Amino acid sequence: MDDRREPPTDGVEPVTGKSRRTRSAAREIERYSSLFAQRTGVMRSSAMRDLMALTARDDIISFAGGLPDTSTFSPGFFTELMGRVAQDSVARALQYGPTEGLADVREAIACVMEAEGMDVDPDNILPTSGGQQALDLIAKILIDPGDVIIAEAPTYPGAVPTFCSYQADVIQIPMDRDGMQIDKLRAALDQLDQQGRRPKFIYTIPNFHNPAGVTMSLERRRELLEIVGERELLVVEDNPYGLLRYEGEPIPPLYSLDPEFVIYAGTFSKILAPGLRIGWLVAPPPVLGKLILGKGSADLCSSSISQYFVAEYFQSGPWLDYVRSLSEIYRRRRDVMLDALAEHFPREAVWTHPHGGLFLWATMPDYIDTTDLLARAIKDRVAFVPGRAAYVDGRGGSEMRLNFSGVNEDEIREGIRRLGEVIHEQVALYGTLTGQPAPAKRGASGAGSADPAPVISSQPPEPAVTNVLHISRAKRAS
Ligand SMILES: Cc1ncc(COP(=O)(O)O)c(C=O)c1O
Repeated sequence: MDDRREPPTDGVEPVTGKSRRTRSAAREIERYSSLFAQRTGVMRSSAMRDLMALTARDDIISFAGGLPDTSTFSPGFFTELMGRVAQDSVARALQYGPTEGLADVREAIACVMEAEGMDVDPDNILPTSGGQQALDLIAKILIDPGDVIIAEAPTYPGAVPTFCSYQADVIQIPMDRDGMQIDKLRAALDQLDQQGRRPKFIYTIPNFHNPAGVTMSLERRRELLEIVGERELLVVEDNPYGLLRYEGEPIPPLYSLDPEFVIYAGTFSKILAPGLRIGWLVAPPPVLGKLILGKGSADLCSSSISQYFVAEYFQSGPWLDYVRSLSEIYRRRRDVMLDALAEHFPREAVWTHPHGGLFLWATMPDYIDTTDLLARAIKDRVAFVPGRAAYVDGRGGSEMRLNFSGVNEDEIREGIRRLGEVIHEQVALYGTLTGQPAPAKRGASGAGSADPAPVISSQPPEPAVTNVLHISRAKRAS
């Protein structure tokens, strides 16, 4: 129906086709609302899912996804592997499989873990439908509504909706360049102890953190395990990126240092292909038993076709060569992004210098709200993940995650140039509103490029004054 022909009503606003659709959608939801489980009230949408539509738009340079570059996988090799699956195992590949996964896939996973210095019995591995299901299953078997879990601040934006949907009380511990700050963890645990509360687990991404881009030092890993051992807590080690290292020496995973209190989560998504949707879990046997029960009720088994593909891939030879070639590509893209940031971002912005993985974390001056900034940036055809997606409590308002693996080097240069322009515009606007001079643009040879320590919000932000700028009260008063 043509909206313009809607007659005005008695109401304050005329009823347009759009407002009628909105109202009828609201009425529809009302009809079902009494049926929804309580947990749906706290379910949150994943920022990445929301932003995924943008990554599909050709005209937008998106640093928002966590996409590996799957165009680097040879089509001929894919055909060869699928041909072998068809030749040798078509009926089984098209059939249901065991919930515990195929033995060959568990062997392949043990190989991947061995490459990072972990010795694991394939019988203790549970293949899952991606690393995301691994996290969901952990939450499903361990979290009752109101249970405390500990995570880093910021944390993996995809874990936030998972933990929220199981109604966990998530406490986030600040990080610095060496990862989670263990003294702050200890203080939080002591405080919880005084309240008679015990966290169900501590969730950490020690290598090339998503989104912060930092890596937990060996000393911190040891300290964390000491705390976990003393207090008999579980730690969930989520490690999708450990093999994607571009500089420095590998640091032993928590699992290799002391597996007793560690649930380990891995995935083929970043070292092979996310489209396979195959990840995995390793856990102490009693925990593994519950995880298998949880998985059985969720999806019976992970995709048999994907598992046969993985098995063929690992039997075909030097799988680490592909990981090395990906690392080489991503290392160059990371360097291009770091150079472009130094050239185009204002002096007050800081960002991390990741030694591997797919992301870096940038912190803007505190008067810039990155959620608002995203709307501006999209108009200029560039996107990122606003920092709030990585916190449960509204922190991160001036922070952003930038992915450098899913776009080519020219797009990185152009995208960061566009983003830099949008940020400079905001800085200048702030200068105009407050009378403070806008800082000069950082030149190509600008001093002090990446700050390896992420600047992490420690307080929930104050309310925004305008749609564009977030100006703290202290600054407004001056
Ligand atoms: C830290 C972390 N955990 C889990 C996942 C989910 O992995 P998958 O794509 O295999 O489901 C991701 C994906 O980006 C991640 O970064």
